[in-house]
Amino acid sequence: MVRLSDFGKKIAVQSGISQLMDDLGNALAEGRNVLMLGGGNPAHIPEVQKHFRESIVRLLESEKEFERAIGNYDPPQGNKEFIEAMCTLLRGQLHWDIRPKNIALTNGSQSAFFILFNILAGAFKGRANKKILLPLTPEYVGYCDVGLADDLFLAYKPEIEHVSDHIFKYHVDFDKINVTDEVGAICVSRPTNPTGNVLTDSEIQKLGELARSNKIPFIIDNAYGTPFPNIIFTEAKPVWDENTIVCMSLSKLGLPSTRTGIVIANEEIIGMISQVNAVMSLAPGGLGAAITTDLVRSGEILRLSQNVIKPFYQIRAEEAVELLCRELNGTDFHIHKPEGTFFLWLWLQGLPVTDVELYERLKKRGVLIVPGHYFFPGLAEQWQHRYECIRINYSQDKDVVTRGLKIIAAEIRQAYDSV
Ligand SMILES: Cc1ncc(COP(=O)(O)O)c(C=O)c1O
Repeated sequence: MVRLSDFGKKIAVQSGISQLMDDLGNALAEGRNVLMLGGGNPAHIPEVQKHFRESIVRLLESEKEFERAIGNYDPPQGNKEFIEAMCTLLRGQLHWDIRPKNIALTNGSQSAFFILFNILAGAFKGRANKKILLPLTPEYVGYCDVGLADDLFLAYKPEIEHVSDHIFKYHVDFDKINVTDEVGAICVSRPTNPTGNVLTDSEIQKLGELARSNKIPFIIDNAYGTPFPNIIFTEAKPVWDENTIVCMSLSKLGLPSTRTGIVIANEEIIGMISQVNAVMSLAPGGLGAAITTDLVRSGEILRLSQNVIKPFYQIRAEEAVELLCRELNGTDFHIHKPEGTFFLWLWLQGLPVTDVELYERLKKRGVLIVPGHYFFPGLAEQWQHRYECIRINYSQDKDVVTRGLKIIAAEIRQAYDSV
């Protein structure tokens, strides 16, 4: 067995969640007959895929374009044409005061978080370690293991609003949040994975002010947000300023395999991202940019997001909620108001088994979901709620989702009935 450095132990040894993700990935790769309601894969939407196929054909037909796309390293900041087109689109659409120097590409937005969290928090010579403040957990599980330093996160429990008998919504508990010297940045995903929550405009404004007054950046993870892929079912104002770092991605648009993350930030942050890109991978991959530059230039990416992607997931969300409410009728279940993403976050108050036990039981019946307790990075406080929730991905084929949800409901009923 090879001897590992502290860094190696932290980053190269499997954590609970990576084991679980392997479990989910293997089940799919082996073609086992599972109902995949776990994982974070977006749907394969035929009309969206048609556009990507046409873009790739166009690229192949132009010898010069094709050779450039596969034969050249891009600059460490990312493909210039794509960045210019993206800048024009965001300026025109959202009226953000940005220039191409405010945009960098990364190999997926996941690697943007690795870079940002580690340059803004962790060890500071002669001073206490700094942390990334997550004002509202549950929060994206992918943040958990990216810190080079231990205990990179400082997280808070949310306030819970019961919108109706079986629908609830988390809110930031501003009375509790304390931005001390120990905080290096504030970060939220909006819409939030795993809950489908969309922080309100007022919450975003307050968090932005809190960050600004403490002279720390405010990071908004916009992987599902507007203007693309626009998997957002409420009104939410997209914001950017010199103190805000917005991270976007082509993944949930339907291109997870091209690994294209887009960071919009002030020039200093973009310079640092480019520098880390150069050190870690010389340049970000350029295929995602090559496939989508025309869609960005023409604005087609916005039309697809608004007219195809958003309604696709919104209908799925409504159907999934309706079915679950019907199947779980009479039990003590609560669904987070689905305001975006393609996940349902189900809270089973007083469930006699843990989220992991429920996951195991469902796996035996051929249904994969994700146990909820993984989604609380940095929350030190004990909270039973963590073990009473599961995340369900409703993006797959309707038949798969319907069969999966019925089995989930049956297993939940059985668990409640067993006491
Ligand atoms: C909230 C959130 N942020 C970031 C990511 C990372 O996505 P990618 O690296 O594919 O851009 C994901 C992926 O599931 C996500 O759900």
